[in-house]
Amino acid sequence: MKKLNLENTNILITGASSGIGKEFAKQLASKGAKLILTARTHSDLISLAQELEREHRNIWIKTIPADLSELNGPKKLFEQINDLGLSVDYLINNAGFGKFCEFSGESFETYHKMLMLNVNALVELTHLCLPAMVNKNSGGIINVASIGSFQPLPYQTVYGASKAFVLSFSEALTGELLDKNIRVMALCPGTTESRFMENANADTSNMNLAPASKVVKSALAAYEKNRMYTVSGKINYVVSLIPRLFSRKRTVKIVVSMFKDNVLGKSLV
Ligand SMILES: NC(=O)c1ccc[n+]([C@@H]2O[C@H](COP(=O)([O-])OP(=O)(O)OC[C@H]3O[C@@H](n4cnc5c(N)ncnc54)[C@H](OP(=O)(O)O)[C@@H]3O)[C@@H](O)[C@H]2O)c1
Repeated sequence: MKKLNLENTNILITGASSGIGKEFAKQLASKGAKLILTARTHSDLISLAQELEREHRNIWIKTIPADLSELNGPKKLFEQINDLGLSVDYLINNAGFGKFCEFSGESFETYHKMLMLNVNALVELTHLCLPAMVNKNSGGIINVASIGSFQPLPYQTVYGASKAFVLSFSEALTGELLDKNIRVMALCPGTTESRFMENANADTSNMNLAPASKVVKSALAAYEKNRMYTVSGKINYVVSLIPRLFSRKRTVKIVVSMFKDNVLGKSLV
């Protein structure tokens, strides 16, 4: 495996308007790559692009608004990138959202959007972008999973399952690409400062939230080392080992005890 050199490559970052995705854009801005930033809120992408253009001379950034939970969202985005005469060398599948509630407490419409974004868009963008990487025998993908990828998540049932998918899918892909110069890594953050928790209706009063800058810095260091997955933070890494130490039912009970009171407060009691 060659040393990672991002200079003159094209990097597509989904969910770049906020949190972890925005931080990826900030930290990759100094690497000499062309950045293609996408999310739904174009005004946020434009502000970020302007900020990065002020800080980095000669940086090339293109912002493309897209709703990736829509059926044609990923394809439309890919075609817009093609129309610019670009192919994607590095894909950061970061856009995603979750909800903290009992399973029946959220509408199926919300779950459908969640699965379309967290699972479908990630698979589709990978499917669209990977052939060019294989042709060049270079490039790679970072899929943003979660510390919740390692065990079922009561009170985040669909979100947890979507993130288990992301980890499984990413690791399987790594296996298929072992003889290629293409790196696939799943990033498994723990609770992180961003808009995620607010959008998930989570009570964060008892949570330790890591700065997104720290999560992304450690992710890029792990990617440099060609890791197949990385858990951000030492305590989170220990937590990710729980399913290896306890029975599956015991593991689920541990998660219930973590979330039922701490995250949902009195609403379920
Ligand atoms: N924060 C945490 O504690 C945590 C922990 C583990 C894993 N993660 C994962 O980290 C990733 C990034 O989340 P974050 O924490 O940075 O949250 P965030 O601040 O809410 O960022 C989510 C990003 O996704 C974009 N997005 C949301 N819905 C979209 C849609 N339908 N189409 C296109 N883009 C969409 C948002 O922009 P627009 O609203 O403008 O579209 C935003 O840029 C997610 O996959 C999340 O599951 C987060």
